[in-house]
Amino acid sequence: MAPERPFRPLQEVVKYMSNDSVWNSWDVRKSSDLYGIPEWGAGYYGINDDGELCIQTKIGKNTISIPFNEIISGINDRGMDLPVLLRIENFLDSQISRLNESFRKAIKSQDYKNEYRGIFPIKVNQQEQVLHEITRFGAAYHHGLEAGSKAELIAALAVMEDKESCLICNGYKDEEFIDLALQSTRMGYKVFLVLEMPGELDLVLKRSEALGVEPLLGVRFKVSARAGGHWSESGGDRSLFGLSSTQIIQVVDRLKEAGKLDCLKLLHFHLGSQIPNIRDIRQSVLEAARLYGGLVSEGAAMGYFDMGGGLAVDYDGTQTNYTHSRNYSMDEYTNDIIDVLLSVFNEEEVPHPVLLSESGRATVAYYSVLLVNVLDVAKFEAAPIPETLPEDSPELIQNMQGILKDMTQRNLQESFNDAVFYRDQMRQLFQYGQVTLRQRSLCENLYLSVIQKIREQMDRMKKLPPGLDQLDDNLTDIYYANFSLFQSLPDVWAIDQIFPVMPLTRLKEEPKRRGIIADITCDCDGQINNFISRKDLERSLPLHELKDDEEYYLGFFLVGAYQETLGDLHNLFGDTNVVSIRIHEDGSFDITRELEGDSIADVLSYVEYDPKVLLEKFRQKAERAVKDGLISPKERQQIVGGFDTGLRGYTYYERENY
Ligand SMILES: Cc1ncc(COP(=O)(O)O)c(C=O)c1O
Repeated sequence: MAPERPFRPLQEVVKYMSNDSVWNSWDVRKSSDLYGIPEWGAGYYGINDDGELCIQTKIGKNTISIPFNEIISGINDRGMDLPVLLRIENFLDSQISRLNESFRKAIKSQDYKNEYRGIFPIKVNQQEQVLHEITRFGAAYHHGLEAGSKAELIAALAVMEDKESCLICNGYKDEEFIDLALQSTRMGYKVFLVLEMPGELDLVLKRSEALGVEPLLGVRFKVSARAGGHWSESGGDRSLFGLSSTQIIQVVDRLKEAGKLDCLKLLHFHLGSQIPNIRDIRQSVLEAARLYGGLVSEGAAMGYFDMGGGLAVDYDGTQTNYTHSRNYSMDEYTNDIIDVLLSVFNEEEVPHPVLLSESGRATVAYYSVLLVNVLDVAKFEAAPIPETLPEDSPELIQNMQGILKDMTQRNLQESFNDAVFYRDQMRQLFQYGQVTLRQRSLCENLYLSVIQKIREQMDRMKKLPPGLDQLDDNLTDIYYANFSLFQSLPDVWAIDQIFPVMPLTRLKEEPKRRGIIADITCDCDGQINNFISRKDLERSLPLHELKDDEEYYLGFFLVGAYQETLGDLHNLFGDTNVVSIRIHEDGSFDITRELEGDSIADVLSYVEYDPKVLLEKFRQKAERAVKDGLISPKERQQIVGGFDTGLRGYTYYERENY
């Protein structure tokens, strides 16, 4: 006989039933699905039982999980405000390992007879800390660097220690650039001068003769293949950089003539960044491998095959060949490349070269997260409507009220069209001074009631009426977040880049509002209204109702590539604070670096103001106000003090107490 189940005391039942979570079937798993964390997070993020988003990293056998709000408290306790760009050092190391290990595995499993050497293109994130960490941690893999300018070359030479790793010099090169590269070759570094333009060769030969250094030469090939995605212009015959096959043959002939063909060691090509389709990658590798074979048969020394960047990041988590995604995993990428190379090199009996790739985005995107606090929200909800309309209400208002009364599920589209028509008519009448402000306000409020009612009706319908797909755009909230899109996420503005965004806390609760995100630059372009979702991109993001006594934090993820130096000073919002953390095996974390963001004085000096002169000018104005009897000398002191503090303050919104 089954044991008898004891009855629960009534008080306990009442307590249980009044617990919100019993009725609210939302849980952290649903939040994880809703925001697509497993798809874009690459295993680096998870939600704990308290509904907090956590950084997750595997150290040894342990998976360490640290909630973002714990990190934010640590940052605040150290006197720094949001917005903060958080750099997670462990993720940078982890991505370098993933890439190198994946190539090693593919090389071993397919019996490719040479090695892989990763190269980090400095342009993708030039910050000293990034180069330092890549060269420090990457030394075990001989992970090298790519420089596209003199400044990048100087930075690279200063941080590189490992003489086994390669330094690739791309870009337009003048005598100074070439000399520095050649002198570094003399010092024992593997510095490759890659010819991007036909005219560069003579200068390189001249300088190498003058300095008595044999150059390590490479040629950049314009692959004819073109890839889909944003950067398709980087490939194809009309791409800006690189040499055509005819120009490469001219280089070979010139080198033969100068007796220097043995200096030509490397073939480089770059199809473009963020290549979503693996087929395009295979195609370009195939073409370049044939060209490499051709150079070997021409008698060039060769030995290095550098296939540039392009390894994409799955920003939207769809694992498709959409612009913001990729239809391959890292292992498929490395295996496919080795597969194509083997098919060509074995057939042509070409010795397998050292394989180089210049993956930037995939190396650093995961490394940084932008943390911001939400300052306010604008809701588009109707205010209560009076039961009876004022007697002098124009006919348009009465018509609008009529829509509300007569609405059924059958006439939703008609109701919407009519409501828009009456609202616009009302606005016109207002412009001609024929209705009052109060009347216009009532009409617009009725309009909001109409679309809200349509929305409620639609929620109850299985099949949505046509033509109402834009309706939600009228109702979504605007969440004002403390950051500048132009400074911190410039690609969102410039090329419609998508980054995953989500709240960092309250993930046990169902997010019942939908919103777009506005920055604080007061520029209408400073908004994000494209978000990833499981199905497709969506024009709003599920968010929680703000609470009066609690900060609401958002994180923008995968922002480590290209964003930092491309950002600009629009509205004079400067660099944000930057904090780097290193997570340890025991679950603790260190704040390894704190970089204070720009002060107002800093940004003003970038645009040629002298903060000292500004203060002096303001002081004189205040003194005049004292003379004119407008303020007292004591008030002058306070006002000038406020101006001075302002100059030294953060360019972003600073909360008084938190
Ligand atoms: C020559 C070169 N190499 C590498 C890269 C990095 O590409 P990705 O960030 O896609 O890896 C770029 C960027 O476009 C590039 O121009």
